[in-house]
Amino acid sequence: LPDAEVLVVSNREPYIHNMEDGRVVLQRPASGLVTALEPIMRACGGTWIAHGSGSADTVMVDERDHLPVPPDSPNYTLRRVWLTDEEQDGYYYGLANEGMWPLCHIAFVRPVFRASDWEQYVAVNRKFAAAVVAEAQTPNPVVLVQDYHFALLPQMVREQLPEATIITFWHIPWPNPEMFSICPWKEEILTGLLGSSILGFHTQFHCLNFLESVDRFLACHIDREHSVVRGTEGTTLVRPYPISIEWPPAALATQPPVNQCREDVLKHYGLPAHVRLAVGVERFDYTKGISDRFRAVQSLLEHHPDWIGSFTLLQVAAPTRGRLAAYQITQEEAETLAREINERFGRDGWHPIVLIARHHEPEDVLTLFRAADLCMVSSLHDGMNLVAKEFVAARDDEDGVLVLSTFAGASRELLEALIVNPYDIRAMAEALHSGLSMPPEQRRERMKLMRDLVSEHNIHYWAGRMLLDAARMRKRRAIER
Ligand code: G6P
Repeated sequence: LPDAEVLVVSNREPYIHNMEDGRVVLQRPASGLVTALEPIMRACGGTWIAHGSGSADTVMVDERDHLPVPPDSPNYTLRRVWLTDEEQDGYYYGLANEGMWPLCHIAFVRPVFRASDWEQYVAVNRKFAAAVVAEAQTPNPVVLVQDYHFALLPQMVREQLPEATIITFWHIPWPNPEMFSICPWKEEILTGLLGSSILGFHTQFHCLNFLESVDRFLACHIDREHSVVRGTEGTTLVRPYPISIEWPPAALATQPPVNQCREDVLKHYGLPAHVRLAVGVERFDYTKGISDRFRAVQSLLEHHPDWIGSFTLLQVAAPTRGRLAAYQITQEEAETLAREINERFGRDGWHPIVLIARHHEPEDVLTLFRAADLCMVSSLHDGMNLVAKEFVAARDDEDGVLVLSTFAGASRELLEALIVNPYDIRAMAEALHSGLSMPPEQRRERMKLMRDLVSEHNIHYWAGRMLLDAARMRKRRAIER
């Protein structure tokens, strides 16, 4: 897309500035979306429009709310948008995270839809759409809209910038039409999204669910041959683009060798030098199956007592969306369970579960991945899950076992992982046992195949395929004119 202006819109910003003890501290958030998009913006430049959520964010912008980033070598612009407490409550905590998030994940947390949240959601979508229009310097920019926070924005931008190429990517699953019909504003959400030129999901399954939802609730023509929806105001191409990560991850260059990482991590967390180490890294979210993973550890120790004293799961979980009861309960439950399992099995300074409920910066996460014998991803439902791909990318020694939930989009690609059903605790315990007992040659063969896949289907491949489809669309339109 030569010469095209690129604008990204997401709720979460790639760099957060917080005030801590009178000092401004930079933080990079735990977000698959940010992990994926940031290398793209570093490579292409442009403007990233996002909510300024940090306590020192307002200090760090110019009069147009712009900040050049990354801080060490700036090559794109972060445009911060400010939200009032009322807007955050209704749009972010309310509609997005109590409504859309459970609606789209099969995680058995009942979606909540309040009319007042919807009002804020509409208003904030309008606010960000206005920011896109204000930032655009050309009539036909490429606007990359990210995730379930902005289902209405594509149509709002389309109305004001009819020539824009709007590529919307939905980072979470899309439910079947029956499930989706719970949402009181289903028509508005579908119509809003159909303002996009291209609408991407991680898997074909989610695309089909979306097309079925359109078929059921809107009077649009669906061209299944080309996966295109034709509405009154234009056409939308609906395609799977499985998201990925930077390859190799930039932070890998400064990592010590794996043996050193292992030594450092064991020492840091006070673990005995001989333990086999599994790691789990996520936000403390009820979709991630953290308690189920702990139950699998318990079952492992019950059925394979040889691991007592010689296996530890190190779980790092960043507190997230903490104002919502469902998240508080998830964290409390997991903490109680970990304590009970540790009390039952722990001995002589050894514990089977180390749970650290704290945010970790990307470099530290990479070190954990390099230190581990095994990485455990047991999401109950997940669009893609980039932790699985980050673990694979971290292992340039070609070792390490991945235990991966069949309900994470990543399981469609990482076929050499040990694929598990996180609801089947016993089977998950057996997968842990086989992973820990796997001969080194087999570990290497599996890891090599996964590394081949992620290195080829990296984040530039993801963005490249979408932008290529967009370029083709723009050329076709130019010919037709
Ligand atoms: C998921 C969502 C992202 C979000 C991330 C972190 O990956 O798809 O949109 O940024 O979670 O959640 P948060 O609410 O902290 O942005």
